[in-house]
Amino acid sequence: MDTKLKILIAEDEEEIAEILSFIVKSSIKCEVALANNGQVAIDYLSKGDIDLIICDYNMPLLNGGAVYNFVLNSMPSCKYVMCSSDTPAQHEEFKNQSSFYGHIQKPNLIGGSKAIIEKFKTQSPLIQQPSSHSYTQISPKVLLKISAMPSDVFLKLNENKYVKVFNEGAIFDETDFIKYSQSSGDRLYAFNISSDAFIDSIRDSILKTIKTLNPENKVEANLQVHYLLATAFKEYGIKESLFPLVDVQIKESFELCKTNKTLSLLLDKLLRSKESYLGQHSFMLAAISVSIAEKMEWNSTTTGQKLVVASMFHDIFLKETFTSEMINVPNESKDQDFWSHSQKAADLLDKIPNILPDTSRIIAEHHEVGEGVGFPRGIPVSKTTPLSQVFTFSHYVVDLLLESHQSGRFDKDEFYAKLNSICEGTDKYKKILTIFRSIDFFE
Ligand SMILES: [Fe+2]
Ligand SMILES: [Fe+2]
Repeated sequence: MDTKLKILIAEDEEEIAEILSFIVKSSIKCEVALANNGQVAIDYLSKGDIDLIICDYNMPLLNGGAVYNFVLNSMPSCKYVMCSSDTPAQHEEFKNQSSFYGHIQKPNLIGGSKAIIEKFKTQSPLIQQPSSHSYTQISPKVLLKISAMPSDVFLKLNENKYVKVFNEGAIFDETDFIKYSQSSGDRLYAFNISSDAFIDSIRDSILKTIKTLNPENKVEANLQVHYLLATAFKEYGIKESLFPLVDVQIKESFELCKTNKTLSLLLDKLLRSKESYLGQHSFMLAAISVSIAEKMEWNSTTTGQKLVVASMFHDIFLKETFTSEMINVPNESKDQDFWSHSQKAADLLDKIPNILPDTSRIIAEHHEVGEGVGFPRGIPVSKTTPLSQVFTFSHYVVDLLLESHQSGRFDKDEFYAKLNSICEGTDKYKKILTIFRSIDFFE
């Protein structure tokens, strides 16, 4: 198991590098890497497992300030030590001190580096071994929404090494969010045993959002609740304490789709939201599929609810970073998570109480499209249920709308031409398209 500390010495003067390397190696059990300029240092750091860097300021190619900026923005777990006759106050780059760990003032190499290593040694117990714990991933966006950490949070350096970056109770703010979502968005973890504490915090945050729901913030608040609930299920599995929130989410999102009489107005609000791509996608799907069903005079509450619930849950196992552009990614580049997401979501729904029968079937069939070109079963649309047909048709509409919104260009004729070509050869879709055209969609 590779849990050895890794220290990088970035110094263009060979003799100084040798002295530093000798002191470090004789004071602490570690691996030492050497870089003779700023660029090589950044290349090393990019590999992601350097715990501490001792860095000269004046070096060829890139100086220590550039290296510091890289650590600050991309390697939040790495500690930066300046080794220079200059002081940090002399250089603008060190104004933000969050990654700054210490200063070795040349020529005092021995005393300076020993002091740094001593300080580092007292903090190295923070490096955790995985043998005693297992970890669950935490999204920076969830941390931002729950604000105070319900437990310690760690940054994953590699399979075997995690370093604590937040103590329990610490506040995760916008600055942290920017820092961690840019470079290490998928590397924040908490101990598995803290899962319940996280679920409680997510639940509290959802309840708080629901309490503040009003006609003005309805769309944003619903998207927020959707995001938190979907993430909680995705990360922590089936948790009974979340079931009452599912009921609330269903009720609220159904209201949202029913009370917005003008579909185009609701879609417009959803398209402009910055909350989450999957949320936008799911609520647009709910709104469009419910409108089509109503136009078909399937306007019972149960039909509407099935479509809304299917919309909310159908994609929750897709990665958070999934966007419409990825729909066009070649099949061979899609991973197992993608191919299994519809069945996984259907299985989840089957375990939640009070869900109307057949709702999970809509989810399981949401990629069964065309004449058997979909997945996981590859059955033709005509073999799926009528509600699944409305759902997959509406899914195409949503994808087209999101795509044109992202490109910043919408052309009604082009939109219908694309929709026509999708429906080509699939009679069931042709009928739905005729009904869809009769909705006053763009008014
Ligand atoms: Fe979807
Ligand atoms: Fe999907």
